[in-house]
Amino acid sequence: MRKVIYNQFGDESVLELTEQAVPGIQKDQLLIRVKAISINPLDWKVYGGEMKLMSGSKFPKSVGIDFSGIVEQTGSTVTRFKAGDAIVGLLDVFKGGALADYVAVKETDIAPKPANLSFEQAAALPVTGLSAMQIIDQLAAVGSNQDILINGATGGIGVFAVQIAKKRGARVTAVVSTKGVAAAKQWGADTIVDYTRQDIRLLGQQFDAVIDLSTKLSFADAKTLMKKRSVFITTLPSPLTLIYSFINNLFSGKKLKVLILKSTAEGLNTLTKLAEAGLQIVLDKTYLVTNVREAYQEASQGSIIGKSVIVLN
Ligand SMILES: NC(=O)c1ccc[n+]([C@@H]2O[C@H](COP(=O)([O-])OP(=O)(O)OC[C@H]3O[C@@H](n4cnc5c(N)ncnc54)[C@H](OP(=O)(O)O)[C@@H]3O)[C@@H](O)[C@H]2O)c1
Repeated sequence: MRKVIYNQFGDESVLELTEQAVPGIQKDQLLIRVKAISINPLDWKVYGGEMKLMSGSKFPKSVGIDFSGIVEQTGSTVTRFKAGDAIVGLLDVFKGGALADYVAVKETDIAPKPANLSFEQAAALPVTGLSAMQIIDQLAAVGSNQDILINGATGGIGVFAVQIAKKRGARVTAVVSTKGVAAAKQWGADTIVDYTRQDIRLLGQQFDAVIDLSTKLSFADAKTLMKKRSVFITTLPSPLTLIYSFINNLFSGKKLKVLILKSTAEGLNTLTKLAEAGLQIVLDKTYLVTNVREAYQEASQGSIIGKSVIVLN
């Protein structure tokens, strides 16, 4: 089978499409024929070596965190799925391995694919959908009548964060670049700010939650946008930020919270239910696995609305 691996850290040129043996499965595992995977910024942070502490430095390594596919074979203790089922799932974010014709997974890594989604749409759901759910429902605990600012609202997480925050009854200000203005309006944002025309630090409005998905807005700069009792969310975990947030949150009403994605079977099932109920999934580009380097090169340049996916077949 085909599998994308790498043997050193670097840019997308380290990614190699190789021939490997189809993995065997343990009794609690399933063999999945992968149909599509989605591209995440985490991918190039990991293969770029930025996350060595978590990923380790042993090679070969693999890419592809979230995926959709069809159950090919089940181990003897698997009860919830059978051969032929269409599924969606995600793997350990620091190990990946889904960018392959087949992958071995556990039942807790997958959920049934919503029937209303294509395999490409379904692959685009897990990492960014779970991140958005965790940010809106747990870290920001968004409720009705709250004012929420989402900085980077047309990216993978932003598309879902805007829609989930609106479902919770919040007033959403979406910060986007010019090409994303119409899209953010379509997903229900109440106010759209084009960051290429306006410095958001000078908006003159305060929010209950400021969610930075761009990695460009610091907590210090965000403070002018925060109500006395409010929360700032960053997606960049580092030991220093975690220590700083612990101390800050003891003394300040302006809290700092850090996203550390937790993947659970329950979360994945809740997310697929949201998708069945109409959560919009926005696909930008679809690539063939044979064009893997081009796919990651283009995606890492930015300017994508929603998600890009890679298909296998
Ligand atoms: N900590 C965790 O557990 C965890 C989990 C998942 C993801 N993440 C991280 O979360 C971040 C967001 O993920 P994602 O998938 O949503 O990424 P993404 O698809 O790359 O989205 C980032 C967004 O930021 C926007 N942006 C860029 N510069 C901006 C600026 N100066 N002001 C406002 N917006 C700007 C981009 O819009 P334009 O292209 O239009 O400029 C884009 O829409 C990534 O860094 C990812 O690695 C962390």
